[in-house]
Amino acid sequence: MTDKQLAVVVLAAGEGTRMKSSKPKVMHELAGVPLLGHALATATELGADFVIPVIRHQRDLLAAYITQNFAAAQIADQDSIPGTGRAVECGLAELPSNFNGPVVVTSGDVPLLDVETLQALVEIHSENGNAATILTAIMDDPTGYGRIVRSAEGAFERIVEHRDASDDQLDILEVNAGVYVFDGALLRSALAEVGTNNSQAEKYLTDVAAGLLTSGHSVEALAVTDNWLVAGINDRVQLAEVAAELNYRLCEAWMRAGVTILDPNSTWIELGVQLAEDVTILPGTHLRGTTVIGRGSTVGPEVVMVDTVVGENATVVKSHISSSKIGDGASVGPFAYLRPGTDLGADGKIGTFVETKNAKIGAGSKVPHLSYVGDALIGEHSNIGAGTIFANYDGVSKHSSTIGSHVRTGSHNVFVAPITIGDGAYTAAGTVVRRSVNPGELAMNVAPQRNLADWVIAKRPGTQAAEAAQKAKN
Ligand code: UD1
Ligand code: CA
Repeated sequence: MTDKQLAVVVLAAGEGTRMKSSKPKVMHELAGVPLLGHALATATELGADFVIPVIRHQRDLLAAYITQNFAAAQIADQDSIPGTGRAVECGLAELPSNFNGPVVVTSGDVPLLDVETLQALVEIHSENGNAATILTAIMDDPTGYGRIVRSAEGAFERIVEHRDASDDQLDILEVNAGVYVFDGALLRSALAEVGTNNSQAEKYLTDVAAGLLTSGHSVEALAVTDNWLVAGINDRVQLAEVAAELNYRLCEAWMRAGVTILDPNSTWIELGVQLAEDVTILPGTHLRGTTVIGRGSTVGPEVVMVDTVVGENATVVKSHISSSKIGDGASVGPFAYLRPGTDLGADGKIGTFVETKNAKIGAGSKVPHLSYVGDALIGEHSNIGAGTIFANYDGVSKHSSTIGSHVRTGSHNVFVAPITIGDGAYTAAGTVVRRSVNPGELAMNVAPQRNLADWVIAKRPGTQAAEAAQKAKN
């Protein structure tokens, strides 16, 4: 491409007032990644020698995110002079004084821009010996964008911001995408000439282009064919539009990779998710964070899954799951709530209206109905009866319970932690287990049952129950 060093300046210092948010605009997420993360990932992929995010608004929050996720980036702080031109000037100050390569400028609020487009732009820039190469787009609705003004012959003349444009200029459909390649040295000197004589009294980067032309340098403006790549996000309506498009593209890529997605419009898959071939995703499913799903598994309808690992041939229906593991062939739901630390073994089952937390449930073990399993270790091939509560909290601290393998616990048990139930033990229905149970024992503490003869006939005379009881006696 070029043997000179390459720099990318990513503009992210603006307030993003149109978002109407206490969170900086570039920290709003798209497919689980902040807008700034998308822009910095692309800049990093380009393999530039310098990746320079320029920040100011809520700088500490942004700096923390950048340092944690893009350690190689060199943060530049914009001073109090506003505008994209000033932001770039502050970014250039981070470069070594002998830097003489091209400088790519992108925006923190243009998340779908891809590395191929940037590479092509840098290549054209170098081949044609341009001082500036500007990416543009032809839009049906150019509202809000800077317009590309060309001569009658079609040569680039300048960029006019929407708010500074005349009525005639507002009719121009070619817009500035906010993505540029500049000659570093020429950019520096051209920026020094830019003033703030515009409706926002800001130092516009866009004014550099006309300045370079005036001083006899070549400036080229080229349109992309896929406008989504340069869609800028200024408000939450645009955020939703771009989110839907990115999501569709991610679903499309997964479908081409062998995943069945019944309804891509109601399926949301974040960037960090990984799906194997022959996974099936049913409608209304949100796969988030670092979720991984193995071959042959079916997830949905209506599952929310965050940072969860699912094995092969598992089934998850209508459930909410976070930071959990689901083994091969296991089944979850409908209506299960798996909280962090749930680890369901192969062929295990977490059934309907079951909540789990920090619970390791061994291979082939089942918690089929209406239970809470918290801070528990359950062995293999055990069955937990319907309506069981692991009472893990004594009002002050949490305690754990251990259930062995091949255990059968009765319906409606309470396990008052800490307790241990040994391998092959049973518990009777309705047992409140307060003491540990040894292997093979049956635990029961049910009060003896008394049946009072003819109680209903005597105490509830005239009721349908009494009548039915009388009839049954005759
Ligand atoms: C900008 C362009 C416009 C283009 C559009 C494409 C200018 C003057 N206008 O307009 O021609 O069509 O992008 O999306 O450049 N920023 C700073 N410091 C500042 C101001 C902004 O770093 O002082 C950053 C913002 O955080 C943002 C980016 O620069 O990431 C663009 O700023 P924004 O205010 O969104 O510019 P637009 O009005 O969209
Ligand atoms: Ca913008």
